[in-house]
Amino acid sequence: MKYTHIAGTGGFLPEKVLTNHQLEEMVDTSDEWILERTGISKRHIAEDGQTTCDLAEQAARRAMEAAGKGSYDIDLVIVATTTPDQVFPSTACLLQQRLGIHGCAAFDIQAVCTGFIYALGVADNFIRAGSARCALVVGAETLSRIVDWSDRDTCVLFGDGAGAVVVEASDEPGIISTRLHADGEYESLLRVPGGISKGFDKEAGMGAFVEMRGNEVFKMAVTTLGRIVDETLGHNGIGKSDVDWLIPHQANIRIIKATARKLRMPMDHVVVTVDEHGNTSAASVPLALDTAVRDGRIKRGETLLMEAFGGGFTWGSVLLKY
Ligand code: UT7
Repeated sequence: MKYTHIAGTGGFLPEKVLTNHQLEEMVDTSDEWILERTGISKRHIAEDGQTTCDLAEQAARRAMEAAGKGSYDIDLVIVATTTPDQVFPSTACLLQQRLGIHGCAAFDIQAVCTGFIYALGVADNFIRAGSARCALVVGAETLSRIVDWSDRDTCVLFGDGAGAVVVEASDEPGIISTRLHADGEYESLLRVPGGISKGFDKEAGMGAFVEMRGNEVFKMAVTTLGRIVDETLGHNGIGKSDVDWLIPHQANIRIIKATARKLRMPMDHVVVTVDEHGNTSAASVPLALDTAVRDGRIKRGETLLMEAFGGGFTWGSVLLKY
């Protein structure tokens, strides 16, 4: 049996920080409201001209260094992003060029906040099928570019950043299972309605920015993530107490706490970065993973459950032995 093993992790956040107090100057909100309703106190924002690929490159370099891998080792590049640098080539191809990787498959995955979980699921299948041996999997976003900074319902929630892992074929587990889902029925609850084909008018703010029915998304996120926990444990025949760490998508501390309760996981075994990063969409899970690996909380051999929920709706989980 061949497993997909995480050889190294990396993360990168742009230097510029936007605090809740700064947001109070921009829209009718308060630090108290944002903290209480979301758990967010600040988020990082890319500078003008700093792109998703710029963030992805730094996270990828750190992951490759942690894994002890060079550009010649990588034979698959996947970037999960909703905010690519350009229409084409894909951000994965742009990243490949930056890193001096030549010839292997490179492509983007668009599953919004679940993007990294999808990307890791795809990489796992490539590796287990023998189609790749060592993959670079990145979640990277400049969500700030598609946020309406005059809309208090959404602008307080999001931030920019990138997280990455290098995964390789191994005889030791490894990724135990990936569960990926989507239901396009809920498109209208969370979306950026404009696009290349339909068109949008960024100046007029028509269709170019995140639109969300927050409360409905919240309820769906809580019930769906509760279900994915049960599904993941049931599918693998393992109990709640077998999971050492929950690494959730970082959208809202109240959603994270609800999932932790479902898993009967004490909060000191839940990786929380939403307070410092906000919701970085596809970057949030790999950034949280990297944070807890680098500060020594997550150790080799421990069992991790990663989960995410986002626009689509999309949702999924990855269960693995680190
Ligand atoms: O990552 C993809 C998935 N996304 C998510 O999971 C996000 C899910 N949704 C949420 O996290 C929450 O629904 C929000 C944080 C977006 C909103 O929290 P809520 O507890 O659901 O609040 P609400 O939308 O029900 O609004 C409550 C009140 C409203 O005022 P009224 O109508 O009660 O007078 C809003 O207008 O809070 C008001 N409000 C704000 N007040 C101050 C909404 N945004 C703000 C704000 N500052 N930024």
